[in-house]
Amino acid sequence: MKAIILKEYGLPNVLEIGEVAKPIPNDNEVLVKVHSASINDWDWGMVRGKPFVIRLFFGLLKPKINIPGIDVSGKIEAVGGQVSSFKIGDEIYCDLSECGMGGFAEYVCVPENDLHRKPPSISHNDASALPHAGLLALQGLVEKGKVKAGQNVLINGAGGGVGTLGIQILKSYGVNVTGVDSEQKLDMMKSLGYDRVMDYRKVDFTDIGEKYDLILDAKSNRSVFKYARSLKKKGAYITVGGSMYRLIEIFLFGSIISLFTGKKLSVLIHKPNEGLDQISKLVEKGQLKTVIDGPYEFDQIPELIQFFGEGKHLGKIVVEIDK
Ligand SMILES: NC(=O)c1ccc[n+]([C@@H]2O[C@H](COP(=O)([O-])OP(=O)(O)OC[C@H]3O[C@@H](n4cnc5c(N)ncnc54)[C@H](OP(=O)(O)O)[C@@H]3O)[C@@H](O)[C@H]2O)c1
Repeated sequence: MKAIILKEYGLPNVLEIGEVAKPIPNDNEVLVKVHSASINDWDWGMVRGKPFVIRLFFGLLKPKINIPGIDVSGKIEAVGGQVSSFKIGDEIYCDLSECGMGGFAEYVCVPENDLHRKPPSISHNDASALPHAGLLALQGLVEKGKVKAGQNVLINGAGGGVGTLGIQILKSYGVNVTGVDSEQKLDMMKSLGYDRVMDYRKVDFTDIGEKYDLILDAKSNRSVFKYARSLKKKGAYITVGGSMYRLIEIFLFGSIISLFTGKKLSVLIHKPNEGLDQISKLVEKGQLKTVIDGPYEFDQIPELIQFFGEGKHLGKIVVEIDK
């Protein structure tokens, strides 16, 4: 089968497009024919082996996992002997980040427990854009952030995968939402429902004296004390990603600040696929739509990972693998 192969860390041009053996599912797995896959920060990080801490999971000198790709949507082509809830022909979508990645290929084996049925009303292209970013948004805003009606909410990095889905999740809560991202994304963000938008290159939202009940940050790059100052009394700041230095700072000082101020500052530890049924329900109710950059061709994946890393994408970059 065709696959994107990573043999050594480096810029995405180290990736090779080649042929590997079609995988065979274990008893608890299914074989999925991948129709579509989307690109995530994990792919950008795994291919480069950066930040260095990522190598503790993927291999210190050389990657132990050789096919990147975590978000997929496709059809089951074979099932292992112990699989009971899915059958050949079922259409599924899921996040592969806890089961060995491998989404940038024609086929991938997935444990039954990681599978979710694709919402029937959407295409594989749309479905592949949802699992990773959708759950970062849902777990950050709803599960950990406990968003409530009437709150003032800010999403930093609002025009990316997490922010474009996060705003739609928030809208059913009746909240006022500010989105911060680069200038070229602001019109798209307004069209998705952000009440107010800011260009991070012109305004530092932590410097203008405005305070929020809830902040979700996809790009933490400021001091934890600045974030604390931007929260209302009992407000919550949740980061899903950003500079490693800042994440460690938030992790170390967040709970101490909470102790003295009652404000909560924390790092979200993403739980892959947990709550994907809720995402499916929002999709079926018409409350969640994907913003897709693409669909692109399989052979473009290396350059698309570079394109993602340079932040040129609008929404989720989607690749149609099975045309
Ligand atoms: N917590 C966990 O367990 C976990 C697991 C997986 C992934 N993650 C993290 O989750 C995040 C995923 O976010 P995503 O998929 O939405 O990424 P994304 O699609 O790359 O979006 C990030 C957005 O932030 C913007 N941006 C860049 N620098 C910024 C700044 N200084 N201030 C404000 N916005 C800025 C980017 O725009 P421009 O590039 O145009 O500037 C882009 O639109 C990543 O940080 C990833 O590392 C966390």
